Amino acid sequence: MTLHEEEVIGKAYDSRLMRRLLAYLHPYRWMVVLAVLILLLGSFAELLLPYLTKVAIDRYIANKELAGLARLALLYFTVLLVQMSFIFFQTYLTQKIGQKVMYDMRNQIFAHLQRLPLSFFDKNPVGRLVTRATNDVETLNSMLSSGVVTIFGDIFVLVGIIAMMLIFNWQLALLSFTVLPLIFAASFWFRVHVRESFRKVRLRIARINSYLQENIMGMSTVQIFNREKKNFRRFDELNNDYLQAYLETIYYYSVFHPLVELISALALAIILWYGGIRVISGALTIGVVVAFVQYAERFFQPIRDLSEKYNLMQAAMASSERIFKLLDEPEQRLLPENPAEMPPPCGEIEFRDVSFGYNENDHVLRNVSFKINCGEKVAIVGATGAGKTTLINLISRLYEPTSGRILLNRIDTALYPLDNLRRRVRMVLQDVFIFSGTVEYNIRLGDQSIPMERVIQAAKDVRAHEFIEKLPQGYQTELSERGSNLSVGQKQLLSFARALVFDPEVLIMDEATSSVDTETEILLREATTRLMAGRTSVIIAHRLSTIQNVDWILVLHKGEMREMGTHNELLAKKGIYYRLYELQYQN
Ligand SMILES: Nc1ncnc2c1ncn2[C@@H]1O[C@H](COP(=O)(O)OP(=O)(O)O)[C@@H](O)[C@H]1O
Ligand SMILES: [Mg+2]
Repeated sequence: MTLHEEEVIGKAYDSRLMRRLLAYLHPYRWMVVLAVLILLLGSFAELLLPYLTKVAIDRYIANKELAGLARLALLYFTVLLVQMSFIFFQTYLTQKIGQKVMYDMRNQIFAHLQRLPLSFFDKNPVGRLVTRATNDVETLNSMLSSGVVTIFGDIFVLVGIIAMMLIFNWQLALLSFTVLPLIFAASFWFRVHVRESFRKVRLRIARINSYLQENIMGMSTVQIFNREKKNFRRFDELNNDYLQAYLETIYYYSVFHPLVELISALALAIILWYGGIRVISGALTIGVVVAFVQYAERFFQPIRDLSEKYNLMQAAMASSERIFKLLDEPEQRLLPENPAEMPPPCGEIEFRDVSFGYNENDHVLRNVSFKINCGEKVAIVGATGAGKTTLINLISRLYEPTSGRILLNRIDTALYPLDNLRRRVRMVLQDVFIFSGTVEYNIRLGDQSIPMERVIQAAKDVRAHEFIEKLPQGYQTELSERGSNLSVGQKQLLSFARALVFDPEVLIMDEATSSVDTETEILLREATTRLMAGRTSVIIAHRLSTIQNVDWILVLHKGEMREMGTHNELLAKKGIYYRLYELQYQN
């Protein structure tokens, strides 16, 4: 999969996508109906105005009827006023509908993202997913609020003007229509070119977004390795590409708009010239010519708008295609089809011939089988890349095993509802993720059913309470994003409290590899012991102290389980564990 997906030029109208989009309007269908109705009435008023002008000139001015003229002027003003209020309501309604649909869609995308399996996020860069929930939704909105609804109005006005012109004087009407091939040619030229350059604009802004994202995330690395100039040059390139693409679209707009003006001036000239001749010969009234001039002026506006909206529609179709593709990604099944009867907590874990690969044919774990009894404490050791993290991720089903079964309390973990499984099996991850919020929030993670005493007790149990107390506002101290105002050790302790507060039956821990000072080391050791007390624990051990505290050790080597036994048994064996131990833990 490429990092930047190329956007194919799609159709401006795709009935399959449209049907799905329309479903989003369903909750607001009465608002839509109202908006369209108001729009049509407004368009009708628009058609009426030139007609009133004609009546004013031909009936009242020509016959010097002052009273009638005054009445008509009043009527003209009233119609105009009504039309303006229609425009107000219609604008307000369509914008409101658009915003509501966007709101629904963003919620849906976020909820969906939360239910996608982790393997999805391995393959999709963050920047792209953010674009889905923001830019793409916004593009759809511009279609909804300025496109779809007003297109009805545009078409209605066009047809109405053509009809009125034909009724007033069909010869003059047909003559005015001779400019139509010109306007169609101009629109076609514009549409084709601007579509292509808009595609470039969207592609290039997406590139800028993901480059920005990457650089901001990796700013410390950029600065440590003096990459500023190099990365700036790359950004400058991307930025310039974007600028060029945008300038291109500006060029097409700057040609198209005056071109339409020119053509409409041509139409006016024809009307004045031919209409003038007919007026002089007495075959036509001045009022009709004036009305024609007004109609012709209004005629080109919707044509110009339609060309622009065509692009809007096309962009929106592309965006909705991408959004729907994301929404169609299969979610994790939260509830198994036949959930098992939930066993009482115990904490027995069994792997039966489990194999797993992040990609097909590329197995990271091969035929792993072992059993951990209730309450046992087990350490997993192995070289970097041996598959330790992968193995523990499988237990809470962050990934699904490719083959084999994993049982908790003699029941396949696939038969547990996911939330139940994850309440029983808590993980303490290697990299602690701190959410922006208070310390308290980060321990209970928003679970209001946990009383404050439990939060404090958990913090006390893992020895986090002392440092929390020393923070400016204690448990109510706001932690900055990703916890940059905490030390590594403090973050670890916080994540211990987070696991303990939920009192899980199985504790899984990926010990942090980063070295901490001796004092923190002792603190963490104590905390780990407390965390493991009274429950089944599986720990990827990087510290000697942890290994000594466990009942037995499982040795992973290149995705296979090669040795298992107690520390002394494995040492005596002088195998992989012995060598690892010598290397890693001896000093
Ligand atoms: N999300 C992932 N997508 C693809 N491959 C992965 C992913 N995570 C780990 N791997 C690969 O799986 C293997 C085992 O990784 P891991 O379980 O993290 O090892 P350990 O924790 O023992 O260092 C490595 O070869 C690693 O490159
Ligand atoms: Mg690991």
